[in-house]
Amino acid sequence: MSTPSLYPVKPEIAANALINEEQYKKMYQESIVNPEGFWREHGQRIDWIKPFSKVRKVSFDDHNLYIKWFYDGTLNASQNCLDRHLAERGDQTAIIWEGDDAADQRTLTYAELHQEVCKFANALRGQGVRRGDVVTIYMPMVPEAAVAMLACARIGAIHSVIFGGFSPDSIAARCIDGRAKVIVTADEGIRAGRKIPLKANIDEALKNPDVNTVEKVIVLQRTGGDIHWEDNRDVWWHDTMKVASEHCVAAEMKAEDPLFLLYTSGSTGNPKGVLHTTGGYMVYASMTHEYVFDYKPGEIYWCTADVGWITGHSYMVYGPLANGATILMHEGVPNYPSPARLGEMVDRHKVNILYTAPTLIRALMAEGEEQFDGFDGSSLRIMGSVGEPINPEAWRWYNDVIGKDTCPIVDTWWQTETGGILITPLPGATDAKPGSATRPFFGVQPALVDNLGNLIEGAGEGNLVILDSWPGQMRTVFNDHDRFVLTYFKTFRGMYFTGDGAKRDEDGYYWITGRVDDVINVSGHRLGTAEIESALVAHHDVAEAAVVGYPHDIKGQGIYAYVTLNHGIEETEELRQEMRQWVRKEIGALATPDLIQWASGLPKTRSGKIMRRFLRKIAANEVTNLGDATTLADPSVIDVLIESRLNKS
Ligand code: WT7
Repeated sequence: MSTPSLYPVKPEIAANALINEEQYKKMYQESIVNPEGFWREHGQRIDWIKPFSKVRKVSFDDHNLYIKWFYDGTLNASQNCLDRHLAERGDQTAIIWEGDDAADQRTLTYAELHQEVCKFANALRGQGVRRGDVVTIYMPMVPEAAVAMLACARIGAIHSVIFGGFSPDSIAARCIDGRAKVIVTADEGIRAGRKIPLKANIDEALKNPDVNTVEKVIVLQRTGGDIHWEDNRDVWWHDTMKVASEHCVAAEMKAEDPLFLLYTSGSTGNPKGVLHTTGGYMVYASMTHEYVFDYKPGEIYWCTADVGWITGHSYMVYGPLANGATILMHEGVPNYPSPARLGEMVDRHKVNILYTAPTLIRALMAEGEEQFDGFDGSSLRIMGSVGEPINPEAWRWYNDVIGKDTCPIVDTWWQTETGGILITPLPGATDAKPGSATRPFFGVQPALVDNLGNLIEGAGEGNLVILDSWPGQMRTVFNDHDRFVLTYFKTFRGMYFTGDGAKRDEDGYYWITGRVDDVINVSGHRLGTAEIESALVAHHDVAEAAVVGYPHDIKGQGIYAYVTLNHGIEETEELRQEMRQWVRKEIGALATPDLIQWASGLPKTRSGKIMRRFLRKIAANEVTNLGDATTLADPSVIDVLIESRLNKS
């Protein structure tokens, strides 16, 4: 197989795309030279109740930080996703839904979705939800998840979606921090043939006495499975809907009113509640969705992300629906019951745009190409990748086997915090290089700095920072503005620090190299090593734990834990299994350690700081050149750890 390192934009694609190279250059230039004018124009792409006159007010100074966009305008996000399409495309399908079992199929038109959202908005009000209240959503991938989000937006409530894979303890922590008033969930979810006890997890979370703000739990009946019921707390979704009016005027929200909270992991402490506001987020999510995916009216768009992640917010719900797209939503996973499922769904629903993650691509690749023998794929036009760096082999496989070398691939780099895509190719403008996220989107000014914060010019490698604001940027950490300033604006003063490292080549293309902080990325799921460590040390047999990521063929990174047991506790295989189950229960299945190495001691400096650099290298099986160990209190622990390392591949 040939392995080109450059895939130029094909002329027929450039000719039909919304943005070609010349337009990209012109628009990018304008967006940087005259951000006021650029965003004044593009801010008009959504419907405002009261038009804005002020475009932006931004300072990244850590002593005087503010970020405001379109801030004297008013609008409603649900109205932008629904009402404004009714006249033109009320009868167009908004959501095509396919169940975990492919026999389960449903569609909702924009008119139907609008009606459901209005009714559920009234149902929420009926349960006491008011503007500014936090509503926690812990749902399977069913249309009602989107209905619940949009219903919150309609009445100005702040949604906080929690991924269905998180444990009761994780739910409790998020409900406490967010002071959730109402929870929306389902009896059970279904994924890859397995039932997920969503309601039981909520019941368990609510046993925590510190969760003391939740008044009601609204339960969607998905499977009809047996569940526990609290009469004065729990209400059925269908009962609340029966009495709910279908008229609901969308609340007039200020541009800077909160739209949602989404918890994400950092290098220290508990997950942070990333707060996104309404106006800038809607402009940015809809604009990036249209240009990055070259979205044209009538096209079928499929994002395989779960609504529990930012990708599910910006590129399954708000961006595409604001653009009047037809979205495909899948309850299960795209490689169940067989690896052919992804291709079958593309063909069945004539998907034009596919947005998925490298971990899935690698998993499919490992199954062999013959799994795709029956795959037609002629409907596909554009393909996207998100969540972690995509290795060139996986990129080429995606290009050749799924895209049949006819579909531009957009490798989109962004974060929960950025609200939308920041670095990405545009299908009709950017020549692709497998493994590179390429160039900034309009208005985005990435830069590289060394560890002292000096800007690196030209080709080079360093810490990835962003020099100026874009409308989709997060505005604060919920309840902890100091943490927001500290995490993102103090490492390199006057710049937004992404936590990622990157290289820039001679063409100005960016190559993300991965996190430079103590965050790991497992199958595109972001986890703080500190969180996993604190789960481990909460176990009564554990004295100390250190967690690092290590290269993993399918997951990108695997979780490698070094555990020191309490004196007298035996290092058994059984205990190792128990430890894995323990972390699963504390955080969720996604945090389960892949490898647990018993460590009688950890490499520490004389002041007691764990030197993770050594642990990362040993976990990666890079043991020949470990570097200077003379600063360690006891250098001999290194040899012991190397000797009993678990990853020898
Ligand atoms: C981190 C953000 C963006 C939505 C899903 C993840 C990594 C994300 C890419 C990419 C290389 C990527 C970064 C980033 N990441 N996309 N295309 N190439 N790395 O959102 O959970 O907030 O994670 O994911 O390390 O910082 P998230």
